[in-house]
Amino acid sequence: METVETDVLVVGSGPAGAATALALSTYGVPNVMVTRYGGLADTPRAHITNQRTMEVLRDLGVEDRVTAQATPQPLMGNTVFCTSLAGEELGRLRSWGNDPLVQAAHELASPSRMCDMPQHLMEPVLVNAAVSRGTALRFHTEYLSHEQSDDGVTALVEDRLRGDTYRVRARYLVGADGGRSRVVENAGLPTVGRMGVAGSLNIVFEADLTQLTAHRPSTLYWVLAPGATVGGIGAGLVRCVRPWTEWMVVWGYDLEAGPPDLTEEFARSVVHRLLGDDTIPVRITSTSAWTVNHLYAETYADRRVLCAGDAVHRHPPSNGLGSNTSIQDAYNLAWKLKLVLDGTAAPALLDTYSAERAPVGRQIVERANRSIGETAPVFEALGVLATSDTEQMWRNVDARKAATPEGAKQRQGLREAIAAKVYEFNAHGVEMNQRYVSDAIVPDGTPDPGFGRDPELYHQPSTRPGAKLPHAWVVRGRERLSTLDLGGHGRFTLFTGIGGDCWQEAAEAAREALGIELATVSIGPGQEYEDPYGDWARLREIGDCGALLTRPDNHIGFRHPEMTPRAGELLIGALRKILGHG
Ligand code: FDA
Repeated sequence: METVETDVLVVGSGPAGAATALALSTYGVPNVMVTRYGGLADTPRAHITNQRTMEVLRDLGVEDRVTAQATPQPLMGNTVFCTSLAGEELGRLRSWGNDPLVQAAHELASPSRMCDMPQHLMEPVLVNAAVSRGTALRFHTEYLSHEQSDDGVTALVEDRLRGDTYRVRARYLVGADGGRSRVVENAGLPTVGRMGVAGSLNIVFEADLTQLTAHRPSTLYWVLAPGATVGGIGAGLVRCVRPWTEWMVVWGYDLEAGPPDLTEEFARSVVHRLLGDDTIPVRITSTSAWTVNHLYAETYADRRVLCAGDAVHRHPPSNGLGSNTSIQDAYNLAWKLKLVLDGTAAPALLDTYSAERAPVGRQIVERANRSIGETAPVFEALGVLATSDTEQMWRNVDARKAATPEGAKQRQGLREAIAAKVYEFNAHGVEMNQRYVSDAIVPDGTPDPGFGRDPELYHQPSTRPGAKLPHAWVVRGRERLSTLDLGGHGRFTLFTGIGGDCWQEAAEAAREALGIELATVSIGPGQEYEDPYGDWARLREIGDCGALLTRPDNHIGFRHPEMTPRAGELLIGALRKILGHG
């Protein structure tokens, strides 16, 4: 049987696999990506692309390509609650960084803007860039099984065009094969939770809905109609794919009864019900049934097999965290694979992948499932859950218009229930506050200060080891750069400032001692980079002559508040620990 050799075999070309292949190829690691089908995602699926993911894509050099195709943030912002798109509007929530206060927080937090990038557009950007940088991509190729030895993994794959099987021999295998992951199953990774919590349908369609939507531009229009609480993701949903002509409806079904027959007639009837106007011409382009899941893996790796994306965290689309977290998993994993493969780091560095990403996976699975439950109070406030009689439901919904104490109470209850949905539609902290604790993070002995405000809603920058490098605009001559642009690029970076010469020398010594790529950045008046707004000085939490070490993923691995004669010893010791040699 034929055997193909590579350093990393990536199974799956969804957001997790494509981003892994892209990052590996960007870092010069030979890799083969196999995917079962003959093409990439052919339906919109994931779309919300948060700031952290855009920062990752910026570092991987594809942010501009995504921005060029995505729906921009200002058009995402009015989450609408209504009885149907043509029917009564019940309220709106400023979402996805479009509340003026949250907008300011987004501006301050990152050089990158959130956007709406449907998965069928995102995957080609990632995959094309990966292939152009060296990834060998095999469509129609299905992973079947694998065996591990001390120095590699041998996977058996089937060429579905030819109908034969061959082996791929790799030093590592990345299982990015989605929510029904065979790699996770074969690797025996322990999981918590269950699949199939509720039934849901996607109906993708074309219709010109400009008249119903352009005056309240949004990514999501929630329809609170009778029947909308059966299964599904909390309510009926009309989601914008391309403003304002391409759309997707999400509608629930009773799991016990099984998915309905997805005929075109049925799909059209659901769409028209949510639009509230049967006369609107609608062209159905695809339908599919899927389930809401609540499951996460407790560990993401079994020796040389490492898993990422939906393979290890499965949850509903609420909060739009799926492909975001998948891309972020890939970014965490790729630099570690590179350094282990080129011998710079010990294999122990790969253990930190699971230690750092599994807590994030668990958090987002729980958050997304909680968000579904948090839609019920909106229905309750409207009195929809109090009766099964449809006529009575509409009378209850109407009661909020009455000039009575009950009417006033209902109005207030509705406002509060809609405002509480901020945890789904504006959870900046969930998106940006990931803090790692692992052997690839060197604690600096400072106590965890916790979060000053709700950590799900508010981003709180920090340079405490484990946090992401805070963003600040700095300048070099006429050029404006984010601190995040100075780090990343697949290498370590040491940030210091005036008086930090000992750290510059320490960096030189570390390069020689460890053979690593380590850039140095000095920020301050008369330094290579200046901090004209004083933002960096406010954010860095160290003195001018202190040091921050970022890992290739722009998370802080080590910090020291000031200069010290022990700089070389401390920095080399920290890097050795991060690299798994300490
Ligand atoms: P994904 O499932 O995308 O990819 C798996 C890949 O593995 C595919 O290429 C497949 O062909 C391949 N594969 C599977 N088995 C294989 C085998 N045995 N051999 C070879 N290849 C194999 N997320 C988000 O961040 N924001 C959002 O707004 C939304 N919205 C959303 C809406 C709806 C309706 C759904 C259903 C989902 C979302 N999501 C989302 C979730 C998002 O789609 C999901 O989290 C990502 O696609 C996960 O990416 P992965 O790469 O992990 O798996």
